[in-house]
Amino acid sequence: MADKTYENVKIEREGEITFLILNRPEKRNAMSPGLHYDMEDALLFLNDDPQTKVVIITGAGDSWCAGQDLKLYFRETANNPAERKRSNTASHHWRHDILTRFSKPTIAMVNGFCFGGAFTQLCSCDFAIAAEDAIFGLSEVNWGIIPGGIVSWNLTDMLLPRHAMYYAATGESFDGKRAVEIGLVNFAVPKDELKAKTLELANKLLKLNPNVLRFTKEGVRAVRHMRADDAREYLGAKQDSLQKADKEIADRVGMKKFLDEKSYRPGLGPYQRPQS
Ligand code: COA
Repeated sequence: MADKTYENVKIEREGEITFLILNRPEKRNAMSPGLHYDMEDALLFLNDDPQTKVVIITGAGDSWCAGQDLKLYFRETANNPAERKRSNTASHHWRHDILTRFSKPTIAMVNGFCFGGAFTQLCSCDFAIAAEDAIFGLSEVNWGIIPGGIVSWNLTDMLLPRHAMYYAATGESFDGKRAVEIGLVNFAVPKDELKAKTLELANKLLKLNPNVLRFTKEGVRAVRHMRADDAREYLGAKQDSLQKADKEIADRVGMKKFLDEKSYRPGLGPYQRPQS
């Protein structure tokens, strides 16, 4: 079946890896209401798409995403509260609700500019790899607005408080290498290696048991703001449900290989799944 097509978003595939591309390069992939509706629909589609095992979110052209579209998202909805509410709901839905609960791993492949509201989907992706020369910035102060939606929450959740305050308050931009130093992305690589390195990570994830991966990322996210006692309860119950969800886990294949067959040492290399 042919993929769905959108005005502001593109789907491209490399086997089980799916690229979801913000596609308004002439506006540096700024997020218009239309882009929010397209992303919401495309992510819901890919979440249930059996061929997709990993999603990579990137931007067409030289920009990853220049933040909310100041004209279409802010100015043109200023006197249209119904449209503002509808686009604001879609904006939060895909950038936070859908992405943080996505059933498959997601990677932000930051190919260029990343500003303002774009920090929300950046932080919601499970992993992030940036071009060394990508430019990041919380430019809200320049427009007389604060890093709103949940951008300020994303900053304090992801960065040390000193870094969050500095970049939010000054609006100073920084590059991909600095983004690694402050904990915003996992790796920064030369731009001409960005796609290859991102695919390398995606292929590594494809080799893992998808249920272990999903339960792990759900667990890591869920315990973030819990008390230790609650986290212990939650993770115990979570492990029980993983056990029930996956026969390979229930059979403790990895442990048998280590303890009985002595054919596997996790410290020396990743677990190879049995071939089906
Ligand atoms: N909202 C609306 N339009 C935007 C935009 C945004 N956030 N970011 C870029 N654009 C538009 C520009 O208005 C321009 O449109 P035009 O061709 O109709 O004039 C087009 O995209 C290209 O932008 P331009 O500034 O010429 O490209 P550049 O490559 O020289 O610079 C940026 C790119 C991203 C550095 C620059 O556009 C910029 O600073 N944008 C604002 C980013 C921002 O502050 N985002 C947070 C919003 S809260």
